[in-house]
Amino acid sequence: MTTLWQALENHHEQVRDRALLPLLEDPLRGSEFSARHGGLLFDFSKTNIDATGLSLLLQLIDGAGVEARREAMFTGATINETEGRAVLHTALRNPDDAVMVAGQDVMPGVRDTLARMRGFADDIRSGRIRGQGGAYTDVVNIGIGGSDLGPAMAAIALSPYADGPRTHFVSNVDGAHIADTLRGLDPATTLVIVASKTFTTIETMTNAETARDWMAASVADPAAQFAALSTAAERTAEFGIDPSRVFGFEDWVGGRYSVWGPIGLSLMIAIGPADFDDFLAGGADMDRHFRQAAPAHNLPMLLALVGIWHNQICGHATRAVLPYDQRLSRLPAYLQQLEMESNGKRVAMDGSDLTLHSGPVVWGEPGTNGQHAFYQLIHQGTRIVPCEFILVRKGHEPHLRHQHRLLVSNCLAQSEALMKGRPLAEAMEIMAAKGLTGAEQDRQARHRVFPGNRPSTTLAIPKLTPFTLGQILALYEHRVFVEGVILGINSFDQWGVELGKELALALQPILEGRASAEGKDSSTTMLLDYLRAVD
Ligand code: F6P
Repeated sequence: MTTLWQALENHHEQVRDRALLPLLEDPLRGSEFSARHGGLLFDFSKTNIDATGLSLLLQLIDGAGVEARREAMFTGATINETEGRAVLHTALRNPDDAVMVAGQDVMPGVRDTLARMRGFADDIRSGRIRGQGGAYTDVVNIGIGGSDLGPAMAAIALSPYADGPRTHFVSNVDGAHIADTLRGLDPATTLVIVASKTFTTIETMTNAETARDWMAASVADPAAQFAALSTAAERTAEFGIDPSRVFGFEDWVGGRYSVWGPIGLSLMIAIGPADFDDFLAGGADMDRHFRQAAPAHNLPMLLALVGIWHNQICGHATRAVLPYDQRLSRLPAYLQQLEMESNGKRVAMDGSDLTLHSGPVVWGEPGTNGQHAFYQLIHQGTRIVPCEFILVRKGHEPHLRHQHRLLVSNCLAQSEALMKGRPLAEAMEIMAAKGLTGAEQDRQARHRVFPGNRPSTTLAIPKLTPFTLGQILALYEHRVFVEGVILGINSFDQWGVELGKELALALQPILEGRASAEGKDSSTTMLLDYLRAVD
C-alpha cells in the first residue's frame, strides 16, 4: 500500500497544475469517467482524475482488501472491532436473506420487528389505534444524531408521499426546540416516539420527560401515547412504555445507519408501509450493486476513490454536498454525521497513528440557495473545495416544470463554471466593453477572474422517490465504508463523542451551584461565573 500511495502522490505531482478544460474536450471523457446503476448516473469527469490516476486508485480496492471486508460486513463478522460488534444495517433492508451472527440467524427477529412496525403504522394511519382525544394527527419523534437525522431528513425528502399524520422532530436539549415543536399540538392526538438506541442519551431522555409532563397535563394516561425505538428494553419499560409499543433492534445497527429499521418508524407512519418498503428496496438494490459490480463500475467504490483522491491525495480538507433539490435540504447534515462520525478517526484499527488524513469535513446546503451565500468562496477563494452536486431529472411539480429547468440549469452551470473558470483576457474584454481602459480596466478585471480547474462531481437521480432515496443513502453508506477500509480505520465506533458528554455531566452540578468550579481552567471558570450570574 505504501508504494501505491507513493505512486498516487507522484502522479498527483505531475498533473496537479494542468487545466481541466482540455481533458473535457475529449468527447469520450464524460462516458469514460462516469458510471451508472439502476437509473443513477455518477459523473466524475470534471475532476483531475485521468486514466492513470483512476487505475492507481482502483488498485487501492485490492490493496486494502475492500472486497473481503465488504463480504465480512454483509455476512455478520465482527468488523466493529473496538466495540466487538457485527455491522448489519444492510440486514434491515434485505429481509429475505439469512444472516448469521454468532451462529444464529438474525433475520427472523428483523422480519418480526418489521411486521410489527407495519401493523402499528397502519393502525395509527387508519385510526384503529387512537389517542385519548381521537385519531392521531401528529407524531413527534424525539431523538438525536442517528436517531433523528435519518427520519427527519427522509420525511422532508419524501414529503410528496406523506399521507399520514404530520411528523415533527425534536433533537436539541435546548428547551426551545421542544417548546416550539409542541406549541400548537394537541396532546390528546399526538403520538410521541422516543428514539434512542441506548435509551440513555441525556438530550433525548430530558426531552422525553418534558414531553411526558406536557402530555400528563392534558391526558389521563400519558404513557399510552408514547412509543419507543431502542435496543434497551429494560429502560423503555422503566420509562413506562408498554412493550407492545417498543420496537427493538440489535447492537449491530449503528446509530447513523439506523433509519432502515425501527428508527424509521416516524417515516413509515408518514409515508405508509408500502412506500417504506420501496425505500428499503432501494437500499437493497444498492447493496446488490455494491456486492456484484466490478470496482471500475461500482458506484460506492468510485465515490470513495474520488473522495480519497481529493482529500488524502490532493489535500482538500472539505467536501461540499450541494443537492439541487429543496427536499434534500437535510441531506448534507445527514451525510455530515455519516461521514464525519464514521471516518473522523486518528488511529488505525490496530491503534497505530494514522499516517494519512482522516475523512473530510462534510458540509453543504441546497442549491440554488448556496449560490447566493457561500459559492463566492468556492469559485474565487484561495482554497479548493471539491463539490458534490446532486440533481434530479424530474420534479414532483409538473405545473412548475419551468422552475425545475431553471434549477437544473443552475446546477450544470455551477459545475461548468468551476471547471472552466474565466481567464483574465476574457475579464479584460468584459471591462473594455464597459468602457474601462488602462490600470482601472486591469484592476477591475482581476476581481472578475475565475481561476477554474475546481473539481466537482454530479450524482444524477431520475426522480426523488422512496426507492431512489434508499439507493442514494445506501450508496453513501457504502462509500464511507470503502473510504474507511482504505484508510484502515474502524468506521463504526464513535469514541470521539464521549469526552464532551462526560465533561457536560460534571459541569451540571457546578452550574446548579451544588459543586465548586475549583480545578477548572480559567476560561471555563470565567464562563461559569458569567452564566451563574443569571440566577
Ligand atoms: O453521541 C453520538 C451518538 O451515540 C450517535 O452515534 C447516535 O446516533 C446518537 O448519539 C444517539 O444515540 P442514541 O440513539 O443511543 O440516543
